[in-house]
Amino acid sequence: MRICCAQREDLTPWLDLAAEVEPLFGPMVEDPVFRRALSRNISRGTAYCIREGDGPAGSRLLAGLLLSPRPPVYRIGWLVVARSRRRSGLGTALVEHVVREIPSPAELVVITFGPGVRGGEAARRFYVRTGFAPAETVEPGPSGTPRQAFRRRIEGETDGAQPLAVCARDEPSADRRALPA
Ligand SMILES: CC(C)(COP(=O)(O)OP(=O)(O)OC[C@H]1O[C@@H](n2cnc3c(N)ncnc32)[C@H](O)[C@@H]1OP(=O)(O)O)[C@@H](O)C(=O)NCCC(=O)NCCS
Repeated sequence: MRICCAQREDLTPWLDLAAEVEPLFGPMVEDPVFRRALSRNISRGTAYCIREGDGPAGSRLLAGLLLSPRPPVYRIGWLVVARSRRRSGLGTALVEHVVREIPSPAELVVITFGPGVRGGEAARRFYVRTGFAPAETVEPGPSGTPRQAFRRRIEGETDGAQPLAVCARDEPSADRRALPA
């Protein structure tokens, strides 16, 4: 299983993955704000994905993560694993991949579902399991969904092999570095 920086060709498969979670997250596929954010993340090299069969750009996506870097705080803006591939470690692999790329000391933050949200318990358990601590309650989402921040300190975990968001060398955007959002 290979984690890649998404390329332009991954945009449509990424929207297909987004369509799977619209019942949970709300509309995205036709939302120009989401589409712009996705394009921006792809351009700056902060859209990480796992493609089916480790295929070429444009293959079906099994999982995707968007990362917003504002050093020393990094935010997971979006994380989804295809329903058919959940509970097989893909979400953990994506999180650990970005943790290894983030220069320490730093903090990785995610805003996720508050307690009691239907369908949100998986994410809450997942983040605790991957080393995040439940933190402050934040403003409800647009449809009134309760939300909560989860935070993970990153101290000395960077392996130094690859600076943040430099794409794998065989990817066309290998020389793109993350820019502040
Ligand atoms: C949350 C999500 C990304 C987890 O991805 P995943 O690849 O299934 O997670 P992993 O296989 O790496 O799971 C790691 C651990 O998290 C916990 N976990 C994950 N899903 C869980 C669930 N449905 N119920 C309880 N615990 C769960 C478990 O402890 C799991 O370890 P285990 O399988 O050995 O018990 C995935 O369920 C998903 O895409 N959900 C819909 C979108 C979403 O909620 N995204 C996050 C919002 S910010």
